[in-house]
Amino acid sequence: MVFYFSGTGNSRFVAERIARAIGQEAVDITKYTKDHESPVFKDTGVYLFCCPSYMSAMARTMTEFIESATFPKGVKAYFVVTCASSMGISPNVSMDLCTLKGMEFMGVAQVVMPQNYIALFTTKGKDENSRIINEALPVIEKIADTVMAGDTLDSKKIGSFEYSVTRWVRDVYYKDFMKTKKFRATDKCIACGKCARICPLSNITIVDNRPSWGKNCTHCMACINQCPKDAIEYGKGSEGKPRYKGPEANL
Ligand SMILES: Cc1cc2nc3c(=O)[nH]c(=O)nc-3n(C[C@H](O)[C@H](O)[C@H](O)COP(=O)(O)O)c2cc1C
Ligand code: SF4
Ligand code: SF4
Repeated sequence: MVFYFSGTGNSRFVAERIARAIGQEAVDITKYTKDHESPVFKDTGVYLFCCPSYMSAMARTMTEFIESATFPKGVKAYFVVTCASSMGISPNVSMDLCTLKGMEFMGVAQVVMPQNYIALFTTKGKDENSRIINEALPVIEKIADTVMAGDTLDSKKIGSFEYSVTRWVRDVYYKDFMKTKKFRATDKCIACGKCARICPLSNITIVDNRPSWGKNCTHCMACINQCPKDAIEYGKGSEGKPRYKGPEANL
């Protein structure tokens, strides 16, 4: 089974390609997480989990989904992390998850994809993003071949000091910086409701023809990047920056 979490489409793109190559379907985990389900899976085949790297490790929406789900003991688990430059401590995090859930760790691979965190950084222009995605295609293919062959993905564990420090920074960031108070809609907003529909955590409601952000946000950047009018800003951090419209729009 291939599961993915994706804010702006990179991880969905990667998961769908791997799933197609190995003859499976890619399943969006928000199907379960939106209703806080704790699913029980009976399939004894291979499991693959694909998500973005947020602050140097697999996105928490994915790790919490895996923690809450039940899998048959001993099933093989692969992990694929999309990132702008590095998956960070994802090898340690995914190994720990396998130990917790009684799954066989089959490795983790990173796939470098375009930057989407426009609240802090800047996504490249279409040509550069297209180059990044095209360079990712053979990496994705190799991952699929490895999974098909039943081999393990290379994954180097990060040293314990770096692991502990990164975990601490990450905890602080999730707690104190993944907030929504800096999001706002400008007068360009046409009240189409797309931001509310696509938020993977159902954190946006339309109130008086404007989006209103709740507190359950993971900074996935779907709303701000995918607004058809580029009407959403994040403080001053996003002003004047290009939006990342997803891999298909950048190929
Ligand atoms: C909150 C947040 C944190 C991020 N942290 C990292 C990071 O630590 N390292 C990195 O290389 N990319 C980081 N990125 C970039 C994303 O991992 C990358 O663009 C990813 O492919 C987005 O996947 P998606 O389109 O499936 O959401 C971050 C993006 C966001 C939104
Ligand atoms: S997607 Fe953009 S235009 Fe549509 S409601 Fe949200 S902010 Fe307004
Ligand atoms: S509010 Fe925006 S950034 Fe936060 S989880 Fe929803 S779509 Fe992602």
